[in-house]
Amino acid sequence: MNSTALWNEQLSVGVEEIDEEHRELLFLMRRLELAMDQDNPSTEIHLILNSLADHALTHFSTEESHFLETGYPKADFHAQEHRRFERKINRFKKAFASGNVQIADGMFHLVRDWLTQHIEGDDQEFAAFLANRQQL
Ligand SMILES: [Fe+2]
Ligand SMILES: [Fe+2]
Repeated sequence: MNSTALWNEQLSVGVEEIDEEHRELLFLMRRLELAMDQDNPSTEIHLILNSLADHALTHFSTEESHFLETGYPKADFHAQEHRRFERKINRFKKAFASGNVQIADGMFHLVRDWLTQHIEGDDQEFAAFLANRQQL
């Protein structure tokens, strides 16, 4: 079943650069899910997975530079969450490379759920902080 959500307006954090990167990450996650569901060649899945991991790294540094610029008080906690995701996606890459389909499948769900919950949760908290700040 293809269940990865795509971006919608409700996920906007009010910063176009961040929203654009979220759209790209969710799109790559959907492509990865489709490729895994359809048992596409592993080289193709690997390419999407690497691209997802690269985009995630770029995205986290974008967000973290916005935390610095705005003096976001939860920056450390939020950045630690990003590091957790990086570890998860690295484990996923290893599981996939080792050919263990069952573990890779399980890792996919962990990584997907983490990403959607993070965009809906921690990233929205940052959005709320930015919105409040603009009202001051
Ligand atoms: Fe994000
Ligand atoms: Fe984040």
